[in-house]
Amino acid sequence: MFRIRTYNKISDKGLSRFPADKYQVQEGAETPDAVVLRSHKLHNETLPESVIAVARAGAGVNNVPVEDYTKKGIVVFNTPGANANAVKELVLAGMLLSSRGILQGKNFVDGLGHMQDSAEMSKFLEAEKKRFAGNELAGKKLGIIGLGAIGSMVANAALALDMRVLGFDPAISVEAAWRLSSDVERMESMQALLAEVDYLSLHVPAIPATKGMINEETLKLMKPDAVILNFARDAIVDSKAILAALNNDALRQYICDFPEPWLIGNEKVIALPHIGASTAEAEENCAVMAVNQLKDYLENGNIRNSVNFPQTEMARGDAACRITFTNDNVSGVLGHVLGILADKKVNVIDMVNKSRDDVAYNILDLEELPNEDVIKAVREVENVISLRVLCK
Ligand SMILES: NC(=O)c1ccc[n+]([C@@H]2O[C@H](COP(=O)([O-])OP(=O)(O)OC[C@H]3O[C@@H](n4cnc5c(N)ncnc54)[C@H](O)[C@@H]3O)[C@@H](O)[C@H]2O)c1
Repeated sequence: MFRIRTYNKISDKGLSRFPADKYQVQEGAETPDAVVLRSHKLHNETLPESVIAVARAGAGVNNVPVEDYTKKGIVVFNTPGANANAVKELVLAGMLLSSRGILQGKNFVDGLGHMQDSAEMSKFLEAEKKRFAGNELAGKKLGIIGLGAIGSMVANAALALDMRVLGFDPAISVEAAWRLSSDVERMESMQALLAEVDYLSLHVPAIPATKGMINEETLKLMKPDAVILNFARDAIVDSKAILAALNNDALRQYICDFPEPWLIGNEKVIALPHIGASTAEAEENCAVMAVNQLKDYLENGNIRNSVNFPQTEMARGDAACRITFTNDNVSGVLGHVLGILADKKVNVIDMVNKSRDDVAYNILDLEELPNEDVIKAVREVENVISLRVLCK
């Protein structure tokens, strides 16, 4: 029986994936094997020694003392991409809001409360509606910087709207490249992309290399009637430079998820209160992904989407027994362990060894369950941090 401690309200769509005959799931469970949480802060808390994994239902892990846990051999999982569809849909909404007089038209109609006669109202609206005419997205060029989980979804959706899509991502992952339609035009530089597009959507992480990437200089490369959509992070743009460009008619609109005092009330700005990932479905996706990853680790020792351990997966074959161990990433540890197994005539059927920074992780499938002495000998090998025995 695995014991899971939950913090925060985790969607039942996720938690119900823990079968009741194998898992005890409880808020505040004592001596848990693993923890599932959303935003609860673990920094000022000591987790029980029994914990071997922490799964965060969400992308950021600022609320988890990852470095500390790595030293203790605790695997920390997150759920990248689980909210990508939610963000994609809001980006599409942002493009539509910027190209049609939707908000302006609604505000105008809301101001007609004094009119009592519907025939008179419809005549008046027919005369006035040209003020809210817009443009279609079809045929326009959308530039996307960052073609990861969200950027690739936005790209494919924009193609389905008959837009032309130009993308720039010098470090695109293999998975994202597979997801991406071949109709997305690859640009060799951000500068080349900026000069061509009618709409620019940013989907890069906020890291030193992307900080302020849209600034006074790069804005000068853009068409004066272009629209910028920022549903990534505030730090990647210089919003004061954007404001200046809007005020000088060097940019048409700025649509973002990151309001700042100087943007409020500007008619060329639509700023939303950071609601890109705020959907019931995104919350459920995060919970489902967190639980699936945790189960696979607890039951099979596989590690997918960890922020501190290497991606390590091996299909569960016919082997009677699987051992997994974590060690400091120094030479000789795996050799030492294999030597012990060979001495005791324990046959290794399959194995995988991966490392990431200071930590190495190993999965070994064995022909038979080794006795306690062998397990103890492996556990005591210098630099082995933790070991698990997973029999079927
Ligand atoms: N508005 C919201 O509520 C919300 C929700 C989720 C994510 N986000 C933001 O969206 C960002 C993207 O999310 P994701 O899930 O797609 O991340 P991701 O890691 O899947 O993709 C990011 C992509 O950006 C690329 N990249 C990095 N530096 C680049 C650069 N200098 N130029 C071009 N490309 C570069 C990477 O290669 C990667 O492909 C996140 O980092 C986060 O800040 C916002």
